[in-house]
Amino acid sequence: MWALTLVPAILLARCLAIPTLPGNSTFDRRATINDGTSFNQGTIGTMIWQASGVLESGCTLSTISNCYHMFLTDDPTQQLDTNHLDSPRQRDEFHFPQVSAGTAFAYTWKQYLYASTGTGSTWFHLMQAFGVSEDGPLVTLDAVSDTLRIKDYVRGTGGTSCGSAACPTTDLANYHGTTTTHHISGKFGPSGSLSYNITNDAGNTILSYTVSGSMGAGSGYVKFGMYRLTFDGMTTANAAVGDFSG
Ligand SMILES: *[C@@H]1O[C@H](CO)[C@@H](O)[C@H](O)[C@H]1NC(C)=O
Ligand SMILES: *[C@@H]1O[C@H](CO)[C@@H](O)[C@H](O)[C@H]1NC(C)=O
Repeated sequence: MWALTLVPAILLARCLAIPTLPGNSTFDRRATINDGTSFNQGTIGTMIWQASGVLESGCTLSTISNCYHMFLTDDPTQQLDTNHLDSPRQRDEFHFPQVSAGTAFAYTWKQYLYASTGTGSTWFHLMQAFGVSEDGPLVTLDAVSDTLRIKDYVRGTGGTSCGSAACPTTDLANYHGTTTTHHISGKFGPSGSLSYNITNDAGNTILSYTVSGSMGAGSGYVKFGMYRLTFDGMTTANAAVGDFSG
């Protein structure tokens, strides 16, 4: 009897919790896209999302209009990308459509990384310029050991070297707790290029990276969000992303 009356009451409460009219981003309620119990992917417009953690539309931030909230648990055995269980990792990412070698692309998006999101010594990608034939990243933005850094797997090995120069880095404190705007343009392929600028909410540049030459053997795509190798003692990870265009 209890169960029979309770279930409709819960369903009704859930329906009432979803606003019937689009609100403004400050007061938007969140709607679940992925609840973190399984690894899923889908599309929103031309964007592809992949999430093993929690992904919700709607944020409590006023600085990102078309906003998505991302959450990853601090349990290194949970919310895993089931395609890579040999090296456990959690993923909440959006990616732009694949582009062929030699085709120019130019994208922007915003990310707000909550200051409570800690780092370790292992990789934690916030952006990936991804090579399809390599099946791996070519250039990434990473949050590692309290540092925001570019990694270049073409001119370097994903370490501190970006070829002829050290990879750009800055204190992660410059990225935490501010709405950052990312502009990236370039071309994939052997005669490729990349120009990548990140600014904070005051419009100041936090990090930038420009290279020309190889950007992989063929086509590629750009992804952003939170994608990390899990480890014991990691924090939860929280971010808002959105206002993407390209
Ligand atoms: C957003 O919605 C809230 C609640 O309805 C309202 O108080 C606030 O003024 C709105 N803000 C803007 C910028 O429209
Ligand atoms: C990055 O900034 C430089 C210097 O202002 C500019 O020349 C370049 O076009 C910018 N790149 C992008 C992708 O906005």
